[in-house]
Amino acid sequence: MQVRDSFREEWIRPIFFYGNNWLSLLGGATTTASAMVLLGFWVVGFFGRGASKNPYLGIIFDLILPGIFVVGLLLVLVGILLRRSYLDATNQVPSFFPEVSLKDPMFRHALDIAVVATFINFIIVGTAAYRGIAYMDTVSFCGASCHVMAPEHVAYRVSSHSNVACTDCHVAPTAAAYVHAKVDGTVQLLMVVAQNYPRPIMADNKIPAASTTCVHCHSPGRFFGDKIVITNGYADDKSNTKTSSVTLMHVGGRDSFAHLSGIHGAHMGKIEYIAVDTTDQTIPWVGKANEDGSVTEFVASGTTSIVMGEKRLMDCIDCHNRAAHSFDTPEDALNKDMALGSPSASLPFVHQESLSLLKAIYKSQAEADARITSGLVTFYRSQYPAIWNRQSPQVYAAAKALISIYDANVFPSMKVTWGTHPNNIGHNNSPGCFRCHDGNHVAKGGASITNDCSVCHNLVVSDATRPRLIADMGMQQ
Ligand code: HEC
Ligand code: HEC
Ligand code: HEC
Ligand code: HEC
Ligand code: HEC
Repeated sequence: MQVRDSFREEWIRPIFFYGNNWLSLLGGATTTASAMVLLGFWVVGFFGRGASKNPYLGIIFDLILPGIFVVGLLLVLVGILLRRSYLDATNQVPSFFPEVSLKDPMFRHALDIAVVATFINFIIVGTAAYRGIAYMDTVSFCGASCHVMAPEHVAYRVSSHSNVACTDCHVAPTAAAYVHAKVDGTVQLLMVVAQNYPRPIMADNKIPAASTTCVHCHSPGRFFGDKIVITNGYADDKSNTKTSSVTLMHVGGRDSFAHLSGIHGAHMGKIEYIAVDTTDQTIPWVGKANEDGSVTEFVASGTTSIVMGEKRLMDCIDCHNRAAHSFDTPEDALNKDMALGSPSASLPFVHQESLSLLKAIYKSQAEADARITSGLVTFYRSQYPAIWNRQSPQVYAAAKALISIYDANVFPSMKVTWGTHPNNIGHNNSPGCFRCHDGNHVAKGGASITNDCSVCHNLVVSDATRPRLIADMGMQQ
């Protein structure tokens, strides 16, 4: 009893007495309001409605709102200390502190102010938090407003997945992954604020397994059979001679008799590997689970010690690593655009000139844009004045096409250039399939992971000019 009384007299009453000042009341109202907003979101999150997967929201819930809460508390304290030292200095400290009671008009007045201020603060903090969340949940926040994500966002917008939310592939739908993403997201935002982030940003094996993301939309059991891939190329000669290739890709899958075949069927759920670099480009150990339960181990020849590291089950992302952010080589990008008509193959040597302009080193996209245009214009003006006179609109159109190729693939500010993010789907531009299928990954008995071209594809037509087959298929050449 005594303890309670003395606590009331020595702590509660003085705190309420000194606390009756504008600063402390405002602080109390701020703290209460942010606590109410936090509680509100926790309740909403707990019942699962409106909870967002966005990894950057941690900055609002774990830093900003608690920050406002603490600032409010500090204001209360500062207000109390200021009033006490003011009353001390002016000798106005009462001999005993008034009772905390609703009957006291001063106390009632202070309470009114606190209630009104809390209400106003609640609206302000709540609206700000709500709008922050709504904004951070948009693709434009993840991709566009954050300039460090520019390379991924630009590539994403033109991918098949341009309507799939970033979080659908980047955050696995488990509670642990969710918390992990929030912590990571907060750290990343702080790194951006401090201008201390990696350039280029790499995936560093932080992408969740396909079994928790891709398979929500793609059935791993789907059968694709063979797929015809037609590609075009242009030579570096005066007439930019066009060639075409037709490749029959044995994609396969699981057919209606549950028989596994082709590229998809060969790896599904049975190949493990150990990569020794962060981009998974060097794979010295591969294991294949056989039907009898044994594992055939393939080791890169020349490997002398036992390969250590995390064993990972091969899944979609090991081949389709650039499903949402595919960067081209300058050759591929140029060939694709020329096949679509611009740069126009009617401009002499446009393939050769374009490639050298694309591959040159520029300090920024703005510089590249200016120098690509001036380079191309100068070339035709000086070397082919007659062409320049007749076809200058086509030269400008070609320059425009080159600029958009460059701006979609090279980001000097992020140190992303040709080849920074290798695509694992083939083997011509980066090791890709040949990380394992190089004929050099050998098992104990001497068998190696196959390097037989026809196992993966039939090269039906290779770099032929006006191939008969394409004409027969009725395609434009
Ligand atoms: C269809 C799935 C998918 C979607 C949608 C997706 N990503 Fe990715 N993202 C990936 C995969 C897979 C990788 C790993 C690439 C690798 O390992 O080479 C990746 C890598 C990244 C990287 C690491 C750097 C790099 O280029 O490898 C960043 C940054 C990134 N994504 C940002 C985003 C942003 C921002 C969005 C939304 C605008 C987004 N992603 C949407 C699948 C996706
Ligand atoms: C939210 C659903 C969704 C998720 C998640 C998703 N995809 Fe897709 N994906 C699609 C749709 C829809 C298409 C077809 C788009 C079209 O044809 O225009 C597609 C197309 C593709 C294609 C064929 C076209 C291409 O770009 O090569 C591949 C390969 C692919 N997805 C791989 C993946 C991988 C790998 C992942 C996981 C990292 C993934 N997808 C996650 C919906 C999804
Ligand atoms: C061993 C590498 C590899 C793995 C693993 C793999 N794919 Fe593929 N996939 C390919 C290749 C190669 C192609 C055909 C190349 C092309 O489309 O240019 C392809 C084609 C596709 C296509 C396009 C088919 C079409 O008709 O256009 C889709 C969709 C696809 N894969 C989805 C997936 C999904 C989902 C997974 C995981 C369950 C997966 N792939 C696993 C290599 C792989
Ligand atoms: C991590 C290593 C690894 C990567 C990367 C890889 N594979 Fe494989 N692949 C294997 C292993 C191991 C086997 C089984 C070899 C055996 O049984 O002899 C295999 C088998 C195959 C088979 C069946 C071969 C046969 O004899 O029937 C095909 C087809 C295939 N892979 C295509 C691809 C394609 C296409 C890519 C690239 C898009 C690719 N693989 C990437 C490890 C890999
Ligand atoms: C392990 C599977 C695999 C093996 C083995 C393989 N390739 Fe490929 N190859 C691929 C894939 C996957 C692609 C890319 C398809 C794509 O880009 O869509 C490709 C693409 C190509 C292309 C480009 C086709 C085009 O349309 O532009 C050529 C050329 C090629 N391969 C030649 C070869 C030759 C020659 C061999 C034998 C020495 C070989 N490949 C062995 C999987 C393989």
